[in-house]
Amino acid sequence: MKRARLAVLISGRGRNLGALQAAVRDGRIEAELVGVVSNRADAAGLAQAREAGLPVVVVPHADHASRAAFDEALAVALRALAPDIVALAGFMRILGEPFVREFEGRMLNIHPSLLPRHKGLDTHQRALEAGDAEHGATVHYVTPQLDGGPRVIQGRFSVRAHDDAQMLAARVMDEIELKIYPQAVAWMARGELRLEDGCAMLRGRPLREPLGLDDLEPGFR
Ligand code: GRF
Repeated sequence: MKRARLAVLISGRGRNLGALQAAVRDGRIEAELVGVVSNRADAAGLAQAREAGLPVVVVPHADHASRAAFDEALAVALRALAPDIVALAGFMRILGEPFVREFEGRMLNIHPSLLPRHKGLDTHQRALEAGDAEHGATVHYVTPQLDGGPRVIQGRFSVRAHDDAQMLAARVMDEIELKIYPQAVAWMARGELRLEDGCAMLRGRPLREPLGLDDLEPGFR
């Protein structure tokens, strides 16, 4: 079987990108990483992509007069990579419906909260202000509803009395994001994870609730 073509979109530090790169390198994700696309030329995460010799494409959002024009430029860049999987990894632009529809079923996002709680920005601060007992991160399919697409896997932990927003951000990244995102992309690369009629399915089983940390395969724990 032909290996899946994986494209990753970033805007920032690229720790999730680093985890995906590592999992591709050691074969846990059976895919070819065909390119990294950023809306910011100064995204720190681009350095590791360049070091690894990956094709890097920058589509600066500021160069485009409208959201639709930016989306189209981004779509042109992505089409050239012909991806089977598009992983939004800290990609901080909202994508319009035509773009999302074009890549729907192939596109995943990772969001730093226990969706459907805390869609959007400042999730760690908002979890604290809400007095949440638990916090975490979610991998979901991207649909036109912001942070609202079918959930695939979600990792959670108990919030400690002394956790501040910065500590929560670090825990979410280290304890959850860097584990669940490579796992979800690995399932997709193997063709085990699919979106059918708006429902996420793993090996033919509908995911009415997202999978959890207990479902991680040994290589991803
Ligand atoms: C992560 O918390 C991700 O969930 C959020 O932005 C952060 C990106 O970090 N959307 P990085 O660029 O992967 O280091």
